[in-house]
Amino acid sequence: METRTVKSVTGLRGEITVPGDKSISHRSIMLGSLARGTTVVRGFLHGEDNHSTLNAFRAMGVEVTEGEAGELRIAGLGLHGLKEPADVLDCGNSGTTIRLMTGLLAGQNFFSVLTGDRYLRKRPMKRVLNPLASMGARIWGRGGGDLAPLAIQGGSLRGTSYDSPIASAQVKSALLLAGLYAESETTVREPHLSRDHSERMLRYFGVDVRPFPGGVTLLPGQPLEGREVLVPGDISSAAFFLVAALITPGSELLIRNVGVNPTRSGIIDILQAMGGSIELLDPRELSGEPVADLLVRSSDLMGIEIGGEVVPRAIDEFPVVSVAAACARGVTTIRDARELRVKETDRIAAMTTELGKLGAQIVAREDGMEITGGSLLTGARVSSQGDHRIAMSMAVAGLVAKGGVTIEDTGCTATSFPTFWELLATAGN
Ligand code: S3P
Repeated sequence: METRTVKSVTGLRGEITVPGDKSISHRSIMLGSLARGTTVVRGFLHGEDNHSTLNAFRAMGVEVTEGEAGELRIAGLGLHGLKEPADVLDCGNSGTTIRLMTGLLAGQNFFSVLTGDRYLRKRPMKRVLNPLASMGARIWGRGGGDLAPLAIQGGSLRGTSYDSPIASAQVKSALLLAGLYAESETTVREPHLSRDHSERMLRYFGVDVRPFPGGVTLLPGQPLEGREVLVPGDISSAAFFLVAALITPGSELLIRNVGVNPTRSGIIDILQAMGGSIELLDPRELSGEPVADLLVRSSDLMGIEIGGEVVPRAIDEFPVVSVAAACARGVTTIRDARELRVKETDRIAAMTTELGKLGAQIVAREDGMEITGGSLLTGARVSSQGDHRIAMSMAVAGLVAKGGVTIEDTGCTATSFPTFWELLATAGN
């Protein structure tokens, strides 16, 4: 098992670029495979999660090659061109792969089985299976139909109008992908807007997708056309460097080419509300997604209350938000974030335990955490608990902990950010 030690640094300086957005990379493979003609993807994230998606589509007959400049070329098979896979499709650690593909496979004319690693096989699947069943999908799973492996007998689907009880892009996207194959339109409403990369990319590929306040409607029966997709840097990866630069004195760091889609940029709003100095420079658009360069400087942070609509817009960032909160003056309260309990790990329990080992005052609540910041963090041996974002958050804490932090089980960072450790070493020197 890989172990890393992170020691305190005097500041993060210079310019960095973080790898491509994980969510957009997944969708580029999926939609590129279903399109007519070639899709070229530049800036694709070569992380383990995205390779799970890539391997699954290759197993269904899609040819994907890598060009000289590192771009991916996907030879799209059209909406009805995928072939029955000869074996079980392994989604690894990737919730996005398994949930979105469940929707997509429900509309195919063949049988397929999806599984994943020991973490993914514990995560709830009924959230997609139930609404898909209302479209006529036939899907079976362990645990009364809530757990992978999932067996899918694809077939004809009808449209649906679904009020999701949770703000989840994975649920919404699974239904929209199934909706491509339905006989009538599909509408999904959610309590707060979750990331809208699927809607944007479907529209970019030529599908009639109509967002409205509180939801989105997709009209079926339209072909997707192959496109060039430019993937921006992942704001969820940039988040570790935003917090790292804010909490280490003497930092001034420019993070270039970061996706700042408003459904993902909750971390910027949260850190700015805590008093963090983050500037968005040169705002622009890439393949239908907003992008900017982020300039971040060390700041004195203060505790705030976090809850409501910002939560889905920052859902993957709460492990590192808890590190920022431990370094802030006063109390930070995180509410309405029960979803953290069903991520790659229970992230409320994981951060409470691991950050607690450094002396942080952090109390778990059913739907969030209460963190009293300001006391000096002290070095300790901690565990990632097998979760990439816990590993990287604890590394950020290590930058300010007295005596350094040793993190066990750090190989999982390859899931979303294979170059994290090199980049941290570069920026910290
Ligand atoms: C993702 C959606 C989010 C997020 C995950 C990626 C996506 O999950 O946590 O890392 O790409 O659609 P939920 O939609 O379940 O909140």
